[in-house]
Amino acid sequence: MPTILITGANRGIGLALARSYVRDGWRVFATSRKPDKSPIEGIETLALDLTCPASIKVLKLKLADIPIDILWNNAGVYLDKNQALEQVDNHDWLRSFEVNCIAPIRIAEALVENVILSERKVIAFTTSKMSSLAGNGVGAYAYRSSKTALNMAVRCFEQDHKAQGISCLLLHPGHVRTDMGGPEGAIDIDTSVTGMRKLVDQINPTSRTEMSRGIFDYDGSNIPW
Ligand SMILES: NC(=O)c1ccc[n+]([C@@H]2O[C@H](COP(=O)([O-])OP(=O)(O)OC[C@H]3O[C@@H](n4cnc5c(N)ncnc54)[C@H](OP(=O)(O)O)[C@@H]3O)[C@@H](O)[C@H]2O)c1
Repeated sequence: MPTILITGANRGIGLALARSYVRDGWRVFATSRKPDKSPIEGIETLALDLTCPASIKVLKLKLADIPIDILWNNAGVYLDKNQALEQVDNHDWLRSFEVNCIAPIRIAEALVENVILSERKVIAFTTSKMSSLAGNGVGAYAYRSSKTALNMAVRCFEQDHKAQGISCLLLHPGHVRTDMGGPEGAIDIDTSVTGMRKLVDQINPTSRTEMSRGIFDYDGSNIPW
């Protein structure tokens, strides 16, 4: 039975991913800050505050020696939504970097041995189209810059672990109707999850190099850096 660990899996896209994989017979670890109850039968919930190093350490110890086929760094924050630069608090900007860029890499670092032990050896990172330097977006300084930084950090992490056969993927889920995306989102959660799974689930050693270049939209199209 393949195993996946998904961060931020108590709501939004993360929860839908967990539901989808458990339905398909995967062993699913769903992390959240307050895992008081299992959202769905079969899902194993684990506590994880992304920005707390002690919390990451405890998670690492709990999962020792368990192979993880897909580690999906999904959790994220969009603290400066609809804010102009003058409204963005420095604390929120730093917090965005902490949650969106530093934490996913620290989690990947902590669980890399679990991924190496697995057959698929995939680490997926949910970034955003808003991170693209080639895009012409405006505003959202904290969110955009934290996700652009994530893209670079992922490329560094991948280079560091090339020899171990790990595939690192950067995925844009689309503009999705969640708490973050809002009701104005272009697609529903299931469309996003189905699309991203098509990309992630087909990763094998031969598709590795191709998938490792660039950011992939949920529909499989390539988003320029
Ligand atoms: N929705 C979109 O249109 C869209 C577009 C592009 C990219 N994305 C990306 O897709 C991912 C999922 O987004 P979503 O729309 O599902 O967002 P969401 O509904 O707001 O859910 C965000 C998740 O991240 C978790 N999280 C935030 N800070 C955390 C922390 N410090 N420790 C642990 N968990 C934390 C939240 O947990 P709590 O419940 O504890 O807060 C929640 O589970 C994010 O990385 C986001 O940037 C979304």
